[in-house]
Amino acid sequence: MKHYKLAFLGFGNVGQALARLLIRKQEEIKDKYAITFSAAAIATGSRGRAIDPDGIDLNAALKLLDGGQPLDSLSTVPAPQDNLAFLKACGADVLFENTPVSYTDGQPALDHLMTALQLGMHAFTANKGPVVHGFRQLKALAEEKGKKFFFESTVMDGAPVFGLFRDTLPAAQVNAIHGVLNSTTNLILTRMEDGETFDQAVAYAQSIGIAETDPGGDIDGWDAAVKISALITVLMDTPFTPDRVDRRGIREITPEQIAAAQADGKRWKLVCSAVKEDGKILASVAPKQVTSRSLMYTIDGTTSIVTIRSDVLGDLSLVETDPGPHTTAYGLLADFLNAARAD
Ligand SMILES: NC(=O)c1ccc[n+]([C@@H]2O[C@H](COP(=O)([O-])OP(=O)(O)OC[C@H]3O[C@@H](n4cnc5c(N)ncnc54)[C@H](OP(=O)(O)O)[C@@H]3O)[C@@H](O)[C@H]2O)c1
Repeated sequence: MKHYKLAFLGFGNVGQALARLLIRKQEEIKDKYAITFSAAAIATGSRGRAIDPDGIDLNAALKLLDGGQPLDSLSTVPAPQDNLAFLKACGADVLFENTPVSYTDGQPALDHLMTALQLGMHAFTANKGPVVHGFRQLKALAEEKGKKFFFESTVMDGAPVFGLFRDTLPAAQVNAIHGVLNSTTNLILTRMEDGETFDQAVAYAQSIGIAETDPGGDIDGWDAAVKISALITVLMDTPFTPDRVDRRGIREITPEQIAAAQADGKRWKLVCSAVKEDGKILASVAPKQVTSRSLMYTIDGTTSIVTIRSDVLGDLSLVETDPGPHTTAYGLLADFLNAARAD
């Protein structure tokens, strides 16, 4: 039986969904994979933090947060406010890093992950920032330390995009990637097809917790740009940052344009593309009209799709229907189990 002490840095929608999934799967993981785990540490930004070397009760942590209480009462030893000191103090074997994304430099998540690997932890994240701003250095450090840096949930939540190529498609060269990778904008465009204005559709996306209070990251194409950059960085083995993506969002799409496309048998989609030609990579995020011959045409609401063209398989597509924090949590759990099974 292998035992792992887990640390959670960032314990919001994703961190809490992961905690619920770990609780639900605990016995199954023990029986099937001979792996047990305990929560050694949990840190939030403003809702407290706790370290307990003997294991924090995850149900108790969830209950405190549900009741609007901070986590500090669960700590049996001092829990430093500084995140790097917190990681050093917590004695965990695994870090789940789920703090908010920074499109511009991947910080502070990049430092959190580097520190965890330096300390000999496996490091897993749903945060796209460190992948586009630090993939090579994180991967090199993980290899040096004999640990894993996995990030399956960063693109298409729990769908196995990165693991598919890493573990099952050796020697495949990726030449092109196309897809609809941002759920919020696809939901907005779908609802505009049903007659809502742009503002009504944004308000709906906010009301169900899909869009942020400031939805600019989605609407202006930043989230899509960082996702296509992550795919290029990892699957095309070429460091690529979102500022290099030719990016346009969906702010200027009008109800009239939506209706005209529909009348023409087409649909507007925020399409992400990356194409490698003569060793150069051209990447874009832009609203495009797609016809019914495209798989993207069939993607409604929050569903997403990616089609990856390689020199060995031609076009291979993955569709993920209605993702959310629960599927993101599964990607993180899969990262953990894939790493632990290889230990
Ligand atoms: N939501 C999804 O389905 C989804 C899907 C794919 C990827 N992701 C990525 O997953 C990550 C987490 O997303 P989320 O939806 O869980 O966000 P969230 O609900 O806003 O949670 C973020 C967590 O990080 C904490 N935090 C913020 N700054 C911190 C700091 N400096 N040190 C320690 N903790 C800090 C927050 O604490 P306070 O609230 O107390 O400040 C909160 O616990 C993001 O990078 C996001 O892009 C999310």
